[in-house]
Amino acid sequence: MDVLIICFSQTGNTETIANKIRKGILDGGNNCTVNFMKNASGNDIHHYDLVGIGTPTFFYREPLNVNTFIKNMDKGEGKHCFVFCTHGSIMGNTFYYMQNELKKKGYIVIGAFDSYADSSLQFYPKVMHTAQHPDEIELNEAEKFGKDICDISVSIQNGESGLIPDFELIENTWWAEASKMLTPENLQQVFPRFTINPDKCTRCLVCQDNCPVDAIDMEVEPPEIQKEGCIFCLFCEKMCCEGAIEADWTLAKKMTRDNLSKYVSVLKEAEKQGKFRPYVDYEKIA
Ligand SMILES: Cc1cc2nc3c(=O)[nH]c(=O)nc-3n(C[C@H](O)[C@H](O)[C@H](O)COP(=O)(O)O)c2cc1C
Repeated sequence: MDVLIICFSQTGNTETIANKIRKGILDGGNNCTVNFMKNASGNDIHHYDLVGIGTPTFFYREPLNVNTFIKNMDKGEGKHCFVFCTHGSIMGNTFYYMQNELKKKGYIVIGAFDSYADSSLQFYPKVMHTAQHPDEIELNEAEKFGKDICDISVSIQNGESGLIPDFELIENTWWAEASKMLTPENLQQVFPRFTINPDKCTRCLVCQDNCPVDAIDMEVEPPEIQKEGCIFCLFCEKMCCEGAIEADWTLAKKMTRDNLSKYVSVLKEAEKQGKFRPYVDYEKIA
């Protein structure tokens, strides 16, 4: 079986999982190519029997660029697909929305894999609850998922439709309520407008080249950042080595502090269910 994995990954967690899934697929005697979403096209899928889409969770669901990528994929016509994601404390409705969009395009989602991962945002405490994830166990699970997914595809082709997962929209939780507010318009209110300090910016173009949605233009005067279509991944400010992209994080920091104890409750529940292993002392995160 020929498998294509298309993945969006900014800080490398989803890429790590993608490569582990690939290893499992190869070990099972199948072929697998991993491509980054930015270099991929919606019509790459035709040469493959199975397609995997990987993403980080942003704001309790898949980021807008991933949603748009799926919307622009060629029709699936029953092609098998799997989804995977990495996330901090709460992956929310990531799989529900991905499955929903893929279904609309005629794909059948035959499996899903998620892993906790370290999450570092500018307005988060230095160490977060999910530090040191994905851990050894999750990496092995990703590999096993890769080994199994091709067999699952064959079984489903042979009529075992009961193996097809169906993700339900999770509502009525505090984070589901919060996520309703996190529309692109509202994110503009919550997150600061970035400014570029002309005395520090060297026009190295690292921010522009790494923007997942081409919302930065450093080659005009004055340079433009957070242009229309910005998904508020906040990566440009984070990766600017010169500190030339400036922002006021006061409001975002306050919102995070308000949520820290809620993240802990969610993780403690996941711990009880054997789904999460903490490597840091929750009480020390502030
Ligand atoms: C803008 C932004 C929003 C995020 N929102 C969430 C979230 O809602 N829930 C969550 O569990 N993690 C969230 N995270 C953490 C990421 O999902 C996590 O760090 C992920 O592993 C990053 O993947 P990558 O290293 O492949 O880019 C967010 C990260 C960023 C940058």
